[in-house]
Amino acid sequence: MGLYQGECVTAVESSTKVVLGGTRGGPEVPTLRKDRWWVQPFVITFILTIFIVYSTWAAFQNRYYFVGASMGRDLISPFYSPCIGGVCVPGAKAGFALNWFRLSPALLILIFPLGFRFTCYYYRRSYYRAFWWSPPACAVSDAHGKYSGETRFPLVMQNLHRYFFYAGLVFNVFLTVDAVEAFREPGIGWGVSVGTIVLCVNAVLLWLYSLSCHACRHLCGGHVKSFKAHPIRYQFWKFLTPLNAKHMNLAWASLLVVGFADVYVRLVASGAITDYKLF
Ligand code: FES
Repeated sequence: MGLYQGECVTAVESSTKVVLGGTRGGPEVPTLRKDRWWVQPFVITFILTIFIVYSTWAAFQNRYYFVGASMGRDLISPFYSPCIGGVCVPGAKAGFALNWFRLSPALLILIFPLGFRFTCYYYRRSYYRAFWWSPPACAVSDAHGKYSGETRFPLVMQNLHRYFFYAGLVFNVFLTVDAVEAFREPGIGWGVSVGTIVLCVNAVLLWLYSLSCHACRHLCGGHVKSFKAHPIRYQFWKFLTPLNAKHMNLAWASLLVVGFADVYVRLVASGAITDYKLF
């Protein structure tokens, strides 16, 4: 996994050699660090726990995920789009459906975006540190006596990341269509509401998150001996490289906004708040 924003370079340069099957860092002195290294894993645990609990709750709700013609809007939660299950609220259905699936459509849909995030190189680095303390921070020893890396089941499944990346692109297309449709005001015409802005920002951030993915950069610029022979791939690679450097920021921004988009649509659909029209 890569380092982010040059963190812990000194620690890595002088770190204990990683031996698969051994203990990293040594159990006697967990760390010599005097700074508050535990803050980052604590904050990450806090945010990811909230997101996991909320998204699980939201996925089982199976209601209040669509604001339709009765409210003069066309807003759908990203957790429920495309609504391809057998039971979708009127107006939310995608152009095709898996009629045999009678549970909440979010349970079907979220496999892909969550799989994409769960196998993301940046999130792996984060949740291995935050939840498993393996290791909790640079130059801090593991909380476990053994280290086997991602060589065995289930962690060897992390190699599926590039396939989740492809699936994520398909979902980005659907969510982009949703963002465009959020400009529609059924029975009224077209306009921009707060919900329109929320869904547009969500779609943009999800694209940026996907395009900054390490698998995407490798797809464009990997396995190339000479960029001179592949000018188009070089242009893609040049465009993606600065985005890739911001992958951590985009991972958090897109996670928070996608969660907020669901909360917003849910509150409007349930009547708790009004989706104000801006113009
Ligand atoms: S590395 Fe994070 S999404 Fe691919």
